[in-house]
Amino acid sequence: MMKRKKVLITRKIPQSGINLLCEKVEVEIWPDDLPIPRDVLLSKIHDVDGLICMLSDLIDKDLLDEAVCLKVIANYAVGIDNIDVSYARQKGIRVGNTPGILTETTADLAFSLLMTVSRRIVEAVDYVKAGQWKTWGAQLLMGNDIWGRTLGIIGFGRIGQAMARRGLGFGMKVLYYSRSPKPDLEREMGVKYASLEEIYRQSDYISLHTDLNDSSRGLIDKEALNQMKSNCIIINTARGPVIRTDDLIDALESGKIAGAGLDVTDPEPIEKDSKLLTLNNCVVVPHIGSASYATRGKMSLMVAENIIAGLSGESLPYEVK
Ligand code: DGY
Repeated sequence: MMKRKKVLITRKIPQSGINLLCEKVEVEIWPDDLPIPRDVLLSKIHDVDGLICMLSDLIDKDLLDEAVCLKVIANYAVGIDNIDVSYARQKGIRVGNTPGILTETTADLAFSLLMTVSRRIVEAVDYVKAGQWKTWGAQLLMGNDIWGRTLGIIGFGRIGQAMARRGLGFGMKVLYYSRSPKPDLEREMGVKYASLEEIYRQSDYISLHTDLNDSSRGLIDKEALNQMKSNCIIINTARGPVIRTDDLIDALESGKIAGAGLDVTDPEPIEKDSKLLTLNNCVVVPHIGSASYATRGKMSLMVAENIIAGLSGESLPYEVK
């Protein structure tokens, strides 16, 4: 009997994709809720044919050099900054991800953060829980309006566009920045291209939707923050290192900007004693942008489909281009 191909999954993912894989291959799942330790992954990878990995697993040259049987990597995420994709390709290893399915779910979270920070929901909940609610307050916990305000979106791919639709639905004016203007979308949606400087200067809310790459790493630094309006609230559901954390802390503490809602941080996870966690104008959640039952279930199927295609020597249904 032919030996079944071996697939390693570096975290427990929803069962839908695992069921699909188990019909065809031998599956090993790292059982912990914490990431598989690097040395364990290095020791296991040599006889693995297909790898389903998480954005917290670094798939670099050293790991790929050990992966002598590996044919396909399926990242359980759309972002692929954790993988050295060009080196994997050089070694003939296909790389897939989970595009599309998490677009609306992630935009939902980005808009929730925008509303949470602008209307001070976390402070309000804490206030009630602490028994401080004695009467209706004429000036209690006032926040910023959303309707009629300007939303600046940096990175106008699928998730940026989905965020724009939400902003437009709430009566916001939407500006976007991307490497190249998208006149068709401008006409269709009623959004407007703006330079980064215009976004910084004019926006009441700035939402980040760029990949992490050499030009976006550290993009939101002191110089960028200094150009923003003092009522500006910044939302990051992209990748933590797009913002320079120390510069953000200074801007939030000094009142240079009004607030931040972060689904991603640098470092990630955020340190327990990070200054950010002590600031009332900053809300941090633990990278849950795509975390709806339906979306994570579909992501599980997508990674399984990528693995099955890759192990059959076919191009992947969701291949990283
Ligand atoms: C992604 O897919 O890149 C998100 O950050 C996590 O789902």
